[in-house]
Amino acid sequence: MNLRVMEKEDLPLFAEWANKPEVFGEYNPLHQMSRIEAEKMFESPLELKPFIIEKKDGSKIGFVSHFHVLHVAGKLLEIGYSLVPSERGKGYCTEAVRIMIDYLFLSRDTMRIQACTDTRNLASQKVLEKAGFKKEGTMRKYLFIRGELRDAFLYSILREEWKEPKVLTRTS
Ligand SMILES: CC(C)(COP(=O)(O)OP(=O)(O)OC[C@H]1O[C@@H](n2cnc3c(N)ncnc32)[C@H](O)[C@@H]1OP(=O)(O)O)[C@@H](O)C(=O)NCCC(=O)NCCS
Repeated sequence: MNLRVMEKEDLPLFAEWANKPEVFGEYNPLHQMSRIEAEKMFESPLELKPFIIEKKDGSKIGFVSHFHVLHVAGKLLEIGYSLVPSERGKGYCTEAVRIMIDYLFLSRDTMRIQACTDTRNLASQKVLEKAGFKKEGTMRKYLFIRGELRDAFLYSILREEWKEPKVLTRTS
């Protein structure tokens, strides 16, 4: 698979994914995104562009996003990800997250990357653990999902735990 930054031509598909509850799955908040909002997100220099996960045949199957988390010390990044249902369970997300972690630690002066997931979302927890994240604890009633506040696990990987690129090399 290939992970590459989102281009303008990906916007219609991205907006389609954003509006399909099955792509974000049962453990993500429901939301809808208009074409205009998708375009604004894409054009804004403040928004970090998602990365598209592509299979070797060029088909687009999901994305990994990253964003800044407000913190007094700054330099805190969080990631999120989703795959179309037909491509799950084949290892694509784990590989994409590994590449994203390499990219972020190589390109950003951040000491930790975090992710949070509904405590029921076992597939997501597996992805994070396989990619080297550690579970830090439970954030109680952190996510509003399908009309209910749900507990979430907070995961992180520290730069010293990552140590060196696992997929990307420093010269490629
Ligand atoms: C979470 C998600 C991105 C995982 O993507 P994926 O490509 O299927 O992940 P991978 O194939 O790399 O790994 C999934 C692992 O979880 C396991 N898994 C999947 N469903 C599971 C379940 N219900 N219970 C336990 N383990 C499960 C798989 O067996 C696999 O582990 P393995 O490699 O040891 O066999 C995908 O399920 C998805 O898009 N879900 C909806 C959106 C979402 O929840 N995003 C995350 C929000 S925090």
